[in-house]
Amino acid sequence: MPDSTAKPWAGRFARATDSEVEAFTASVHFDGCLYPYDIQGSQAHARGLQRAGVLTEEECKTLVEGLAQVRARIDAGEAEWDPALEDVHMNIEAMLVAEVGEVGKKLHTGRSRNDQVATDLRLYARAAQAQLDAEAHALQSVLVERAKAETETLMAGFTHLQTAQPVTLGHHLLAWYEMLKRDRQRLAEAFRRTNTLPLGAAALAGSGYPVDRQYVAELLGFDSLCDNSLDAVSDRDFAVETCAVLSLLMVHLSRMAEEIVLWASPAFGWVDLPDEYCTGSSLMPQKKNPDALELIRGKSARVCGHLQALLMLMKAQPMAYNRDNQEDKEPLFDSVDTALACLSIMRAVVQAMEFDRERLKVAAAEGYSTATDLADALVARGVAFRDAHHITGQVVAHAVECGLTLDALNLEEVQQFSPAIDAELLSSLTPERSVAARGLHGGTAPDAVRARVTQAQEELSVGPLAMPEQP
Ligand code: ARG
Repeated sequence: MPDSTAKPWAGRFARATDSEVEAFTASVHFDGCLYPYDIQGSQAHARGLQRAGVLTEEECKTLVEGLAQVRARIDAGEAEWDPALEDVHMNIEAMLVAEVGEVGKKLHTGRSRNDQVATDLRLYARAAQAQLDAEAHALQSVLVERAKAETETLMAGFTHLQTAQPVTLGHHLLAWYEMLKRDRQRLAEAFRRTNTLPLGAAALAGSGYPVDRQYVAELLGFDSLCDNSLDAVSDRDFAVETCAVLSLLMVHLSRMAEEIVLWASPAFGWVDLPDEYCTGSSLMPQKKNPDALELIRGKSARVCGHLQALLMLMKAQPMAYNRDNQEDKEPLFDSVDTALACLSIMRAVVQAMEFDRERLKVAAAEGYSTATDLADALVARGVAFRDAHHITGQVVAHAVECGLTLDALNLEEVQQFSPAIDAELLSSLTPERSVAARGLHGGTAPDAVRARVTQAQEELSVGPLAMPEQP
């Protein structure tokens, strides 16, 4: 049990901390979860001190092993966290001293909680980024798998949520794949800038001990060193950036959720969501509601809010470390937890949802979705596109008036708008032909979608972000 009466910084103080202030400044109830990273960072620091000749081999060994003992105790749920010791760092140091005795007090030589917490948070963030990338990769894999089975499936494509042109369902699912692809690129970029070592910056001016920072970085799998001690302890841009990447990712998941919610509505009837992913109404017995998807949409709001919180946290901080930075953790942790949960639920839903191909096909033909194809056919017969567009507009207005689809129109009546229209042209205005005509790279034609599926499978074969080697 740590001795909470002896705060490590108590020497300068004549009176005890006000209990309200003590509770107000404590963070261990939310930063305690950083313990694996705190211990890992401390073990590397101890080794660095030994190399620098500050600790003997024996002392270093005692500290490294003692820290492993502390870790095992915390893992087993046997540790008692003391809010009087403020944060994870001072709690673990107290546990270490309780474990190994006096030598434990040597661990903090040449280090400050300022470079310590920056190191812990970078270790946490990069592990989170890798885990998020693995979840996003898994969702992408399911999307590609489902897209592959739906390369021929017709559906209505919208702009302004009004029927625009027919598309293939596989193409639509791959649009989601592409959004996630860029999210993963951004995660990898954030990872690169996160994976750099603050330790050695000490409080703000750099450690006064000749620690080989490169060696410590290698022990922790960091691939570079923070090059300025003031910057190293102060900026949390890597946390801001992670929340920015996650805000965009959540906006993407929210858009996907929104579409599936629409598709599952009886008004569309395009997908059926299995019972496992829906909930009922306490009043209306018939209801099967897509609450899980609505919550993904709803939770995107809190992640975007966390990004704002972190930006505002940083904006007026003078160099170097300020206690404001303690407020960086909850927004980051919650963003990571939220995004991980949403990615996992979304994957399960995408995997399980059942498409009603018949209804999708009917929708593909509704709303004069092939009017653009009529204009294109007129262009092929020598009419300038702007004129073809106008003629087609007149034909559609006529069809609306008659309450008929384009292919059901009376040929003579239609020819009054353009003599270039003939029976063959009218009968060719099918959704199948419409999508087949869009076979260029990035287009919706089944062949183009099949080609993109193959490319996507190759992209996914690279696998998610790998965690760095740690000796
Ligand atoms: N709990 C603190 C944080 O999260 C650790 C650093 C405290 N440093 C200090 N000089 N008071 O930022």
